[in-house]
Parts: sequence; structure tokens; C-alpha cells
Amino acid sequence: MSKEQDTSKLWGGRFTEATDSFVQRFTASVNFDQRMAAEDIEGSLAHASMLCEVGVLNAAELEQIRNGLGQIRQEIAEGRFEWSVELEDVHMNIESRLTQLIGSTGKKLHTGRSRNDQVATDIRLYLRKAIDAIAAELSRLQLGTIGLAAQHAHTVMPGFTHLQTAQPVAFGHHLLAWNEMLERDYGRLQDCRARLNQSPLGAAALAGTTYPIRRDLTAAALGFDKPTENSLDSVSDRDFAIEFCSFAALLLTHLSRMSEELVLWTSAQFNFIELPDRFCTGSSIMPQKKNPDVPELVRGKTGRVNGHLVSLLTLMKSQPLAYNKDNQEDKEPLFDTVDTVLDCLRAFADMVPAIRAREDNMREAARRGFSTATDLADYLVRKGLPFRDAHEVVGKAVAHGVASGQDLAEMSLQTLQGFHADIGEDVFEVLTLEGSLAARDHLGGTAPAQVKAAAERAKAKVEARS
Ligand code: ARG
Repeated sequence: MSKEQDTSKLWGGRFTEATDSFVQRFTASVNFDQRMAAEDIEGSLAHASMLCEVGVLNAAELEQIRNGLGQIRQEIAEGRFEWSVELEDVHMNIESRLTQLIGSTGKKLHTGRSRNDQVATDIRLYLRKAIDAIAAELSRLQLGTIGLAAQHAHTVMPGFTHLQTAQPVAFGHHLLAWNEMLERDYGRLQDCRARLNQSPLGAAALAGTTYPIRRDLTAAALGFDKPTENSLDSVSDRDFAIEFCSFAALLLTHLSRMSEELVLWTSAQFNFIELPDRFCTGSSIMPQKKNPDVPELVRGKTGRVNGHLVSLLTLMKSQPLAYNKDNQEDKEPLFDTVDTVLDCLRAFADMVPAIRAREDNMREAARRGFSTATDLADYLVRKGLPFRDAHEVVGKAVAHGVASGQDLAEMSLQTLQGFHADIGEDVFEVLTLEGSLAARDHLGGTAPAQVKAAAERAKAKVEARS
């Protein structure tokens, strides 16, 4: 292997043998990190301007670098840029092209920086942008969920514990429970954004640089709140990626719970809702099938997102300071998490407002399942019975209902009085589904007036964000 072949590498100086072609492919990241090209150029522009400000570059050199990077940005946007695996990663591909375009001034761009602080900067810029796009989709899903909830403040469905009919709730109340999960996810996403928004640029390889750099200038130019504190930490920290994947794992966990309910509710056995045909697919063998593929897929994608979180945690475990090549493995899990989260949110934000509730079926399911049994017990407590005794009385009434195929509201007053003499004509008010809902009239309760007010508060919160 001749020395000439190898000096084409930006780091080729100390090498006497060309890189093994397998090792070249094995160590390269350009196939996936080219996704950060726009951020890489943005970071380089900020770095070059700062170098000029402190006198390391002159104005003419800065102008050349700006023009060259502008042209490269154009080439990439138009798909004309030739990415090369020999140049390993996005950073060296762009730098090498810059030198091709503007000559030796291009070689000055890397003064006072390293790919280690460069890549740390690029990922933060990339993820910040992704977080803002995800936040917008998450808000759209929340508004759709809250809007549907407001339409169904009076729609009665059975509430479940242990997936057994428990007590009647408003369908809108159930939907607002979803929104609470999403609201916490939004908060976690913003926490992550706030912590990642610091500039590692200037940490160079690990120890800082001998040039009189101004890290405050590059931090401000790139929209970071401030520069990071410690150069060793700056190039090795990937906490923000782990935090983001942790946000994503919890969001997908929530979406998987919603998905599971949608799948159940569309089944012939529940038949609580209908999803529009455009979100479903058919079976190639069974002509009657309309499958809820979208929620099923979202439920399934939770697995890969959880996996990416574990990948990143394991990647960072036991890593000594400062930068290690291991960290090149941070990108694929991170990028796939961003893509998956955006797709799943988009699917849900489009689908949820289009859910059609089968109100009669929900109501019938609530009526059939003795869902007002607790209301009857509370009624007896108001007549003076201790709650445990009331519980026992109602349990007997339910057993009778199971045996005779009757719901509590279908029994005669005489029959009910057979379980306790204090039961009067007014009992039928508490045994209605509407009465049961309306009685839970406190903050966080399922009374339709509370659900309406909660939907308004939730909507105002989301709208106040932008
Ligand atoms: N492609 C590398 C990564 O993603 C860039 C940093 C490489 N630094 C180094 N010293 N080899 O981590």
C-alpha cells in the first residue's frame, strides 16, 4: 500500500498503510449521519464566524468558507452531493468537499475544534429540531383528543377495573385520561429540550483548545442557552439522547395503551367505536374483516422504541471519559426513535378525531354490567347504614340479578326492599346511569359538567403553549 493512497484521508498523516476496506465500511457512519448535514453546516458557519471574530480567520477567508458551505448545502438539498464512505462520516465529507471547492482555506475551518465537539453539537441541534416537530404533533393529538372528549361529556360507557365492568363513566372522561398521559409526556419532552440546549462546541477533542475561542458567541449563534461547563463532559455526554428515548418509550407506552383500547373497542364483542375505513385494512382471505392495523402497529412499535432506550443506556454504561468511538452507535437508535415517534403521533393525531362512538352500545354495556352497584351502596349509606353493611346488602342484590338475569334498575321496588327495608322509591334515581355520572360532581370526577370544564381547561393549556 503506498503512502500516497492514504494521505487522501483527513487524518492520514501518521499512517503508512491504507485502511482495510472492510474496516473502512465497518467504521464509517456517513450512511446514517448524513441526516445531520444541515446541522453540521450550521455549526461550521457559527464556528467560522467566531474564528473570524477572534482573529484566527480573516474576513476574506470567512467569506470563502461561507460561500463554500452555502454551495455544499445546496448540493446536498438537491441530492447532487457525492457522499463517500472513504471519508467516513458527514463531518469529513463536508470538510473535504469544502477544500475541493475553495482550496486550502477550507483546511482552516477545523482550527480549534474536533469532530468530537462537532458531533456532540450536531446531535443536539438535530434533536432540538426533532423535539420541536414532535411537540407540535403531540399538541395536535392532544387537541384532537380533547375535542372528541368535549363532544362526549354526556356519553355513558362502562368504566373498567381488571377489565371488568366497574362504574359508569363519560366517554369524554376516559378520553381526558388519555390526555393527562400525553400532557405529562409533553412536559417531559420540554424538560429534555431545556437540558439539552447547551453548546458543547469549543470542547474540541476533550481538553479545550489553545486558540482564544469565544464559546459564548457560537452558543448564542446556534440558539443554545449557554455553553456547557466542562470540556470532558461535553464530548462524552449523551444523557440528552437517553432522556429523549426515555420520553419516547413512555409516550409509546401510553400510545400502546390507547391502541389496545381502540383494538378492543372495535371488536365485535365490544363494538363501542368505529374507526374510519381509511385507518383500517382488510384480510386477503376473510372477506368480513376490517382490521384496526394502525393502532395495532403503534402498539407493536413500542417494542423497538423501548429497545432503543435500552441500546443507549447499554452503550453508555461503563464508558470511561471522554469521547469513545462507541458513541457513533448513538445515532441509529436515536434517529429511528425520532422517526417512529413522529409517525405514530401523526397516525394518532389523524385518527383520534375521526373515531365514531357507538353510543347505544356503550350505554347498553354499562347498563348490563351492574355498574351502578356502588351507587346503591352509597344510597344506603345516606340512609344510615355503615358502608360495609351496605356493600353486603348490594352484593346479595347483584347475586339475585345474576341468577335472574336482571339489572338492578330492572328489579321492582318490592324486590329491592327484600334486600333492605330502607330502600324507597327514590332509589331508581341513583340506579340510572345518568344519575350515577352526575353524582360524581367534583374536580377530577366524571359528572358531565366536570368533564366539560376539564376539557376546556385542558384545551386552554395546550393552546397557551404556542
Ligand atoms: N462519526 C463520529 C461519531 O459519530 C464522529 C466523531 C469521531 N471522532 C473521532 N475521534 N473518531 O461519533
